[in-house]
Amino acid sequence: MKTLEQLNLSGKRVFMRVDFNVPLDKQQRVTDDLRVQAVLPSIRKVVDAGGKLILASHLGRPKGKVVPELSLNPVGSYLAEVLGRPVKMAPDCVGEAVQGLVAGLGNGEILLLENLRFHGEEEKNDEAFSRQLAALADIYVNDAFAVSHRAHASVHGITRYVPLCAAGYQLENEIKYFHQAMEEPKRPLAMIIGGAKVSSKIGVLENLLSRADHLVIGGAMANTFLKAQGKDVGKSLVEDDHLETATRLLKAAAEKGVQVHLPLDAVVAPRMEASVEVREVPVDAVPADAQILDVGPKTIAAFEEVLKGCKTVVWNGPLGAFETPPFHKGTFAIAEFLGTLDALTVVGGGDSAAAVRQGGMTDKVSYVSTGGGAFLEMLEGKILPGVAALEECSGRS
Ligand code: 3PG
Repeated sequence: MKTLEQLNLSGKRVFMRVDFNVPLDKQQRVTDDLRVQAVLPSIRKVVDAGGKLILASHLGRPKGKVVPELSLNPVGSYLAEVLGRPVKMAPDCVGEAVQGLVAGLGNGEILLLENLRFHGEEEKNDEAFSRQLAALADIYVNDAFAVSHRAHASVHGITRYVPLCAAGYQLENEIKYFHQAMEEPKRPLAMIIGGAKVSSKIGVLENLLSRADHLVIGGAMANTFLKAQGKDVGKSLVEDDHLETATRLLKAAAEKGVQVHLPLDAVVAPRMEASVEVREVPVDAVPADAQILDVGPKTIAAFEEVLKGCKTVVWNGPLGAFETPPFHKGTFAIAEFLGTLDALTVVGGGDSAAAVRQGGMTDKVSYVSTGGGAFLEMLEGKILPGVAALEECSGRS
């Protein structure tokens, strides 16, 4: 893929797809700016080189309608604040008014287009819409890893109609770290997988069985594995229709020599509530009226013992109901422990990445991916359509 370094950006209209799908609170303030911070290097590069920067993104899922609460205006203001320079806001992402604003851009100026998904054509990867977006650009840059698993017009279709394509620094980084961790890892490689459901991560687990040395499983999905091993997990969340899947995966892991580490003890409570009384019990002594809501201290110690010996650790998915204290401890303990390791540590997926940031560990791990679904698809071994399209366009242009 071509990179920003290889291009002459001065005076060029640079259309940069970013992922500003960030959480906003009721006052429309950005509450987590990882995705904004991640693209600042590419933005600064274009601006400093005298390019005319057109930023494009989606926000939420407005399904082809104008939803005022999903306007990118607040993100534009936030970006202007962070950059310390003006960011012009377009009223739409295509059409005459936008063309006029682009034509009026001076070198080093920035224009943020309005939410691409206000047009249903974006998600349909519509050809005419892709052409309209492409017409705004001399150079197309994808710096939106987190949406590159979507074959949408601004990620995929547009690459067919622009004269030049390049990867932004953030996209380059995402691919570089993923490659180092998953394709050519220093071994042993441990993969920590958490979250609620086995069913949403079957593809990931299957792919990991041929890559990882250790599979560390936590979160509610571990309950399904524990039940598949014959343990009574009380009222815990279990996917009964995936008990066989869990058994099959455990068998395949044993055959491939992948060591699977499941919780030994758990924090249980009658329900998931902040003030509720909790108990720590071994996983084979979960009371019938209780549910597992976090990993226990023995599990944390055992997981840390495994991770200590690893040279590469990739983490996706929380180990407990971390957004409801006191069930946050397992997830935060692992986040903190990753920061102490002398290993390549890569964290991806909305929740685990949020836990790392909330725990103040962002700078202590090697890399925090901006991707949620995109990171999962990479873990499944899939090629992301946005990355494939960019490669093709780079090769051609
Ligand atoms: C994300 O938040 O994972 C990306 O922005 C993609 O959003 P989507 O799942 O609505 O396509």
